[in-house]
Amino acid sequence: MAAVIETKDLCKTYVVDKRQINVLKNVNLKVNEGEMVAIMGPSGSGKSTLLYSISGMDQPTSGTVLFDGEDISKMKSSDLAETRLDKMGFIFQQMYMMKNLTILDNILFPAIESKKGGSREDKIKKGEDLMRKLGIIEVADNDINEVSGGQLQRACICRSMINSPKILFADEPTGALNRTSSNEVMDELVKLNSEGTTIMMVTHDAKVASRCTRVLYIVDGNIRGEYINGADIPDKDRERRLNNWLLDLGW
Ligand SMILES: Nc1ncnc2c1ncn2[C@@H]1O[C@H](COP(=O)(O)OP(=O)(O)OP(=O)(O)O)[C@@H](O)[C@H]1O
Ligand SMILES: [Mg+2]
Repeated sequence: MAAVIETKDLCKTYVVDKRQINVLKNVNLKVNEGEMVAIMGPSGSGKSTLLYSISGMDQPTSGTVLFDGEDISKMKSSDLAETRLDKMGFIFQQMYMMKNLTILDNILFPAIESKKGGSREDKIKKGEDLMRKLGIIEVADNDINEVSGGQLQRACICRSMINSPKILFADEPTGALNRTSSNEVMDELVKLNSEGTTIMMVTHDAKVASRCTRVLYIVDGNIRGEYINGADIPDKDRERRLNNWLLDLGW
């Protein structure tokens, strides 16, 4: 299997009031094409920082991140921007939708920015198809304050998928949702993954993580454990077994 992401001795240090905070400490990981990886760990352990550093949103202090075998720190900034736009999808909580655009226009935004993806009409059709697939087509023309939290999160998924990314990064995509909406969002992410999109997501929810193919557990900026969810195990058992593993790690 080809690695989409590979990090080598990835470190991230923040300096606050002349004090160094080593948030990521020599993280070595590999994510292969077609995987759906959950990142878990205590609050403040560096999960979001890891996602930002890997996805080129933030620069690591040292170490390398290879995307499709290419060192992203050696890319020209315009090439990195293009790679991020065309090959990576993002569902980050602080990346709010734009208030002056409708849901559909928000979803289309990365497509309109991209040089690829065909004509404007093609892009609109793709946006609408995604909305239909995620069951939110009826809110296409709504403003962002005229939809529910679950609908907004599904719209974020549509937006992250509009340029058919190779990999989707998500930071607690179900964090603000109730169980029903969370299950629906996970159904969609699992479906996208089964259709070929590699997914890397942070979650605090063992039920959510149990639907991923692999779980990485981070403590204090280091990967402390790795767990493979057996594909042939029934959903309930997957969650129970993962919970036991997490408890052993001090979750
Ligand atoms: N821009 C920053 N400047 C200084 N310190 C930061 C910055 N961003 C994060 N940190 C610190 O880095 C550590 C890890 O933060 P991070 O957001 O990656 O944690 P997390 O595992 O995602 O936590 P949570 O589960 O609460 O979201 C924390 O101690 C945080 O205070
Ligand atoms: Mg976080």
